[in-house]
Amino acid sequence: MDLFEYQAKALFAEHGVPVPTGKIATTPDEARAIAAELGGKVVVKAQVKTGGRGKAGGVKVADGPDDAFEKATNILGMDIKGHTVHSVLVEQASNIAEEYYASFLLDRANRTFLAMASREGGMEIEEVAATNPEALARIHIDPLTGVDLAKAREIAVAAKLPEAALDGAAELLAKLWETFVKADATLVEVNPLILTGDGRVVALDGKVTLDENADFRHPENEALVDVAAVDPLEQKAKEKGLNYVKLTGSVGIIGNGAGLVMSTLDVVTYAGEEFGGQRPANFLDIGGGASAEVMANGLSIILSDPSVKSVFVNIFGGITACDAVANGIVKALELVGEVTTPLVVRLDGNNAEEGRRILAEANLAVVKPVDTMDGAAKLAAELAAAAA
Ligand SMILES: Nc1ncnc2c1ncn2[C@@H]1O[C@H](COP(=O)(O)OP(=O)(O)O)[C@@H](O)[C@H]1O
Ligand SMILES: [Mg+2]
Repeated sequence: MDLFEYQAKALFAEHGVPVPTGKIATTPDEARAIAAELGGKVVVKAQVKTGGRGKAGGVKVADGPDDAFEKATNILGMDIKGHTVHSVLVEQASNIAEEYYASFLLDRANRTFLAMASREGGMEIEEVAATNPEALARIHIDPLTGVDLAKAREIAVAAKLPEAALDGAAELLAKLWETFVKADATLVEVNPLILTGDGRVVALDGKVTLDENADFRHPENEALVDVAAVDPLEQKAKEKGLNYVKLTGSVGIIGNGAGLVMSTLDVVTYAGEEFGGQRPANFLDIGGGASAEVMANGLSIILSDPSVKSVFVNIFGGITACDAVANGIVKALELVGEVTTPLVVRLDGNNAEEGRRILAEANLAVVKPVDTMDGAAKLAAELAAAAA
């Protein structure tokens, strides 16, 4: 999960990383009040989960409360690279002497952690890396020893930071590493990391990606979720404990087992080419124990997506045999109620014959049994095309 800048800075502050004082506002009036409270010059910053806000006009200095009101009026509602601005961070304007770059990240390719730092911050770091790679120091971090003050100073020196910034940068980097570890992040990035006119080193921007696999250790992370951005169906699926990802196509997909579902996505995409480019509408793995209730939850989520024109239920019976799944489908259709979207069902594996017999006997108009995966994918795509 990526955090907003204001959330990243709050996390930094909790771990002792210096950040400017500021608060979040969702209206120009709130922005004015915060500016009045802070006093002096402030910066009004669009809160969207994308970089380059400054260049896009989403970061503005304001002279005082009334100016902050005006800047917030302009920035709120702005579209930055497809992200609508719903809130702004109003924070004290810093007196910037120099702008640097620093980050810690999980370096998957090298199976370790990596520190990156540069004297050339502020601008897009990809550009620095491309045009002037020597300016970007890369230092591997041993996860067992981490980043103490000495290691932090080594990073700052490798980044060629000036003498005046070394102590402050080393202290900040050690605390930034602590943030990275304690929060179970896969990325903490500060761009720019600044040296102020009075010699302090401060994180002026913050980007944090948290490792969702570690959420169980961080109940507090729930509060960081951007509810407005969560797909409502994905949210509902999560509440029901289902593994669901919304996609953009028209063929709803249900399968048991992530591998089977993924190959189903491929097969449907391929079959769909023949029918005007029909594609999967979602990923949904109902897992091994496909009880009637789980099947009903899955179906109700998929069928409440208006872009779904047909559904492909692809089951390979294992420990949960096909007859149990077939009974599940029949009961699920009763539970969901009025269903008009066609359900192409392919049952294979353990007790497939019995499962097919149960479906045939139930004689449900919307259920279209097909014996093979390719055949079922083709029919599902064809039915989606016909309903479109
Ligand atoms: N509190 C602040 N005080 C002074 N200048 C700031 C402040 N916050 C940001 N800036 C300036 O705006 C630029 C862009 O802000 P930043 O937070 O890095 O957004 P982005 O990276 O999305 O463009 C910074 O490089 C810095 O020069
Ligand atoms: Mg930045």
